[in-house]
Amino acid sequence: MTPLLETRGLSKSFGGLKAVQNVDLRIDANRIVSVIGPNGAGKTTFFNCLSGIYRPESGAILLDGHNITGRKPHQVCRRGVARTFQNIRLFPEMSVLENVLVAQFQHRSMSPLRLLLHTRRFREQEKTSREEAYDFLEFVGLEKYADRVSSSLAYGLQRRLEIARALATKPRLLLLDEPAAGMNPQETIEMVQLISRIRERGLAILLIEHHMKLVMTISDDILVLDHGVPIASGAPKEVCQNPQVIKAYLGEESDF
Ligand SMILES: Nc1ncnc2c1ncn2[C@@H]1O[C@H](COP(=O)(O)OP(=O)(O)O)[C@@H](O)[C@H]1O
Ligand SMILES: [Mg+2]
Repeated sequence: MTPLLETRGLSKSFGGLKAVQNVDLRIDANRIVSVIGPNGAGKTTFFNCLSGIYRPESGAILLDGHNITGRKPHQVCRRGVARTFQNIRLFPEMSVLENVLVAQFQHRSMSPLRLLLHTRRFREQEKTSREEAYDFLEFVGLEKYADRVSSSLAYGLQRRLEIARALATKPRLLLLDEPAAGMNPQETIEMVQLISRIRERGLAILLIEHHMKLVMTISDDILVLDHGVPIASGAPKEVCQNPQVIKAYLGEESDF
């Protein structure tokens, strides 16, 4: 079966620093795969290559078997890959609802003429967009904050809004870069539940996360990077018993 997303020998350097070296990854539809590794291991750089922010210097990215290497971020998004950022990126002055509407709009191709003329079709589409945006807010548990300015939300809620925005582009694959970072234990549990519900919607999820318990509970497969190099991959049980992984990373984790 053709994987939903596959990377073959993906590499990216910054000057002399090899941030991502020869990474092979495969994720099938409706699976959760986690990318773990110490700080600076190249996880975010890997995501930046997948989402078209960086062009890898070698290797290939295949989506449904089609080569999408070197596509721009909006092209990758149109093909069904959405992401959230390690550092939250919202429109801080806009309302929570508007943040989702903008994400939908960026995804949709709307003729400027139709926008100007405010045609009936445009008005109908706008109504549908609002209803859909509310549905996404409801899904992540933010509907009661719809009219709040997004910067006024607590940090954990802003992370949820980021996810609602990503979902609004109707992806098949969602890349989450440390979605539980900075969250308390209760918020972290709720994030695990949210990720599980996203999978139940039929999406595949690629997850970067430091909370080891979260990763071990939720992942079908794990890829471990160390200094940009993939040192192990497989089911959570196999990976956490791998001596190289324990030495490189997990040995540091007290809660593992
Ligand atoms: N834009 C950049 N320019 C130069 N070096 C970078 C850049 N982005 C990341 N790096 C470096 O690449 C390495 C991997 O970083 P990153 O992908 O952010 O790691 P991780 O997400 O695993 O913590 C680090 O050494 C980091 O300093
Ligand atoms: Mg990172």
